[in-house]
Amino acid sequence: MLELNAVAVRYGHHRALEDVGLQLGQGELVAVLGANGAGKSSLLQCIARLVDPEPGSRLRFDGCDLLRLQPHEVVEAGIALVPEGRGVFGELSVQENLRLGAYARRARASQAQSLARVLALFPRLGQRMAQSVATMSGGEQQMVALGRALMSCPRLLLLDEPSLGLSPLMSGELFKAIVRIKALGVGVLMVEQNARKSLAIAERAYLLGNGRVLGSGAARELALDPAVQAAYLGGGV
Ligand SMILES: Nc1ncnc2c1ncn2[C@@H]1O[C@H](COP(=O)(O)OP(=O)(O)OP(=O)(O)O)[C@@H](O)[C@H]1O
Ligand SMILES: [Mg+2]
Repeated sequence: MLELNAVAVRYGHHRALEDVGLQLGQGELVAVLGANGAGKSSLLQCIARLVDPEPGSRLRFDGCDLLRLQPHEVVEAGIALVPEGRGVFGELSVQENLRLGAYARRARASQAQSLARVLALFPRLGQRMAQSVATMSGGEQQMVALGRALMSCPRLLLLDEPSLGLSPLMSGELFKAIVRIKALGVGVLMVEQNARKSLAIAERAYLLGNGRVLGSGAARELALDPAVQAAYLGGGV
């Protein structure tokens, strides 16, 4: 479904991504692990067309060349990004945030079904529809962010550090919700520093370091790999 080859991103003289290759199949849950500054957000922003990659980078989604698309056309193609820091509108209510998520043409007709799906995933949001998002807890805000992305009827969700800043209990709940989203047939590409929890729910993972893919494989095997444990699982939650 998603296929990246030789992807490079540069900010001035700084190379944030170099020769990155990555595949994600229909409905697959794939994690990208990496330390601060590894290039994780740049990778997702590049797929969402918010950052231009270097010439020679190839990014395809269902056979379509992503480089020909504007950011809003990427959403229409079925890719939704939940950015780092969530990207919700704090002054607006839960309901308004969710409605904004259904702005894409592809989403308008099925808005009612999408809302039902989001509220089934996050019943707590149903009780808080009129609450302004700024007054919600971090975990609740992340639910709004995920819900808003789901309202665009994505076939692929890009999640940038969904568990950042959440308590272990809340991040556990969130990871369970991500598993349920995958079970709905939505592909998920998730970048995370929480390697242990990510590897527990992902099918495959990529290890990103200094902008390069340092390794990849089945999540279950990576979790048992001593080198991975030393680099990514040391003392983590
Ligand atoms: N707009 C920008 N201008 C200049 N440099 C940037 C820009 N965005 C990112 N970088 C640099 O590119 C590198 C990769 O950044 P990126 O945000 O992709 O990393 P990350 O893995 O998401 O890090 P974090 O875990 O801290 O979110 C970093 O060294 C960062 O300073
Ligand atoms: Mg980041």
